[in-house]
Amino acid sequence: MSSTLITNIKQLLMVYPENPGVVKGKAMAEMPMLENAWLLVEHGKIAAYGNMVTVPADADGMIDAHGGLVLPAFCDSHTHIVYAASREQEFLMRLQGKTYTEIAEAGGGILNSAKQMQTASEEQLFDDAMARLEEVGRSGTGAIEIKSGYGLTFASEMKMLCVIRKLKEHARQDIKATFLGAHAMPAEYANDRQGYIRIITDEMLPHIAQEGLADYCDVFCEKGYFTHEETDTILQAAAKYGLKPKIHVNQFSNSGGVQTGVRNHALSVDHLEYIGEEEINSLLSSNTLPVALPGCSMFINIPFTPGRMLIDAGLPLVVASDYNPGSAPSGNMHLMLSLACSQMHLTPAEAIHATTINGAAAMELENSLGTITVGKKAKLIITKPLDNYMLLPYYFGSDLIARTI
Ligand code: NIG
Ligand code: FE
Repeated sequence: MSSTLITNIKQLLMVYPENPGVVKGKAMAEMPMLENAWLLVEHGKIAAYGNMVTVPADADGMIDAHGGLVLPAFCDSHTHIVYAASREQEFLMRLQGKTYTEIAEAGGGILNSAKQMQTASEEQLFDDAMARLEEVGRSGTGAIEIKSGYGLTFASEMKMLCVIRKLKEHARQDIKATFLGAHAMPAEYANDRQGYIRIITDEMLPHIAQEGLADYCDVFCEKGYFTHEETDTILQAAAKYGLKPKIHVNQFSNSGGVQTGVRNHALSVDHLEYIGEEEINSLLSSNTLPVALPGCSMFINIPFTPGRMLIDAGLPLVVASDYNPGSAPSGNMHLMLSLACSQMHLTPAEAIHATTINGAAAMELENSLGTITVGKKAKLIITKPLDNYMLLPYYFGSDLIARTI
């Protein structure tokens, strides 16, 4: 079907006649919208929109939104959805009083997932990840970033990246792949850290570049994981192959990870549960995007990223799910909207910007997704009948989506 007309839209949200690119600071609180609207899709792209008074007569296909809202699909810029097994035993241990860090130090955490990854088949990993993508697609995710990082050996990291490449070919979502070989130090290299880092820089990265297996490079820059110097080494090697950094920083402590990201021209620095004025100033002087992951804060009971403070400072906050089996086993972006409002004190308009256009920018997809702009891809959410957009984060946990396009 080459054209589809959506009619009776109560509020058409994120309507930007000109693509705004990333939206920062105060502008995030403005919700540009059209009430009582129609939207025309042609050849998979947004072609036109207007008030129902001027609705076009016809199209190949018609969708009556019955008073629902229409908004751009969510863009989830940080996930680890290729994994071999769930980790509910660690969940139980945390409920009984252990912390995420204690469990990781005892050999659980990322190393637990890496052990399971060694024996998982590519087919199984693909089928499981595909089912997760279908689920998050139903809850409105139209674009998603997926990381490796549960391999931690050459063979297993490449296996994960090959699975992501296959997901790119088969999934409905736009997908970006991130190489996260430096997610944790494998136990065998505990006394030879340089040895593992050399495998990353001299073996994994050249192969990834040659095969085009990744778009970005990530490092878990945190006490107990990778130091700033190690992070610099890995990111500088990745840069030679054209892989920009998107890194994990300041999840458990503030040790200067933001500055390390900015120094390496990171596209984004993600987590930021611990962040202060110096970090904010560093971000303000850069194009690096701050990404908050409220599902992780909720699930492992750590502070929420001070999103309010970051937006008030004028920054373009991004909110993503961090969907992974250890610290955030949910990719539901509607829930992230609610958490961003209730726990990070964002307004509904700010939270919607953080999960759409700014999420797109954190995957360099802001020219094709994230707003209602003529010419952008028509990846859309149509909600059940709703009076206004504030009800989206308000009804947390409800299934408000009538359909996605
Ligand atoms: O973003 N912090 C590092 N990585 C993931 C957790 C990975 C895991 O526990 O499996 C995160 O929280
Ligand atoms: Fe993560």
